[in-house]
Amino acid sequence: MTASIINGNEIAQQIREELRREIVNLKETYGLVPGLATILVGEDPASQIYVRQKEKDSQTLGIYSERYDLPASTSETELLALVDRLNQNPKIHGILVQIPLPQHITESTVLYAINPDKDVDGFHPVNLGKLMIGEPCYLPCTPHGIQQLLVRSGIETEGAEVVVVGRSNIVGKPVANILLQKKKGANATVTVCHTATRDIAFHTKRADILIVAAGRPKAITADMVKEGVVVIDVGINRIGKTTSGKDILVGDVDFAAVKEKARAITPVPGGVGPMTRAMLMLNTIQAAKMAAGLT
Ligand code: GUN
Repeated sequence: MTASIINGNEIAQQIREELRREIVNLKETYGLVPGLATILVGEDPASQIYVRQKEKDSQTLGIYSERYDLPASTSETELLALVDRLNQNPKIHGILVQIPLPQHITESTVLYAINPDKDVDGFHPVNLGKLMIGEPCYLPCTPHGIQQLLVRSGIETEGAEVVVVGRSNIVGKPVANILLQKKKGANATVTVCHTATRDIAFHTKRADILIVAAGRPKAITADMVKEGVVVIDVGINRIGKTTSGKDILVGDVDFAAVKEKARAITPVPGGVGPMTRAMLMLNTIQAAKMAAGLT
């Protein structure tokens, strides 16, 4: 079997088009313009690219955006003061603090200072807690993007054996929780593997849907999956540079070999990444609607 490729760029574009129409409607009907503030502290090159992309997406869709590029020397107190100002600003419905933050700043202190109603990343414990008990909340963008990739590719999750490799707070744990919910586009049997799992291949070979966020290239090889599996590769690993100086990116899955056994697979780049960005836009619109009492 050779896998069909799940095209994240195409699906994200379809979602962006739906969101663009919704934004036009919100503006025309209610005079409501969703607003997103992005904060980047320091000069991490990958983070700079991500934040730039998020700002560009906002502008393309008609979302009002404010961008704060702060020096790496910014103190935690200064950053908290900015978050507080944005919490009070009625034009800003969503606040995104790009992580990682510099060492001298405690990430959790800053993320927890964001008003949960403006937490469009879905990282605040209030939103993660609501996710766990199945209440409406902002879903973290990458896990929500993964669910949308599955749903919009017509992949049945109900009763499926889903195996997640990786237990991060940003991807592994929330995606497991999302797919566990007794809801449409979920309702799966979920197993989470991690660094202390004794025999990862034992679990991955049983997967109907395999979600990999392990953080290293070729963490999943062809002998670790069954024929007909659906593979979602969340990894982004820079393994070198092209002659023209561009980063060479690969995921966590041995794509060339695994695609020969899989039913469907996401590429890297062009799989999960664009979906994360689209879900941030969706959460920002949700935040604006909530602030305006429209939900
Ligand atoms: N760093 C890597 N991914 C993310 C993300 O989705 N949100 C934020 N705020 N920082 C990140």
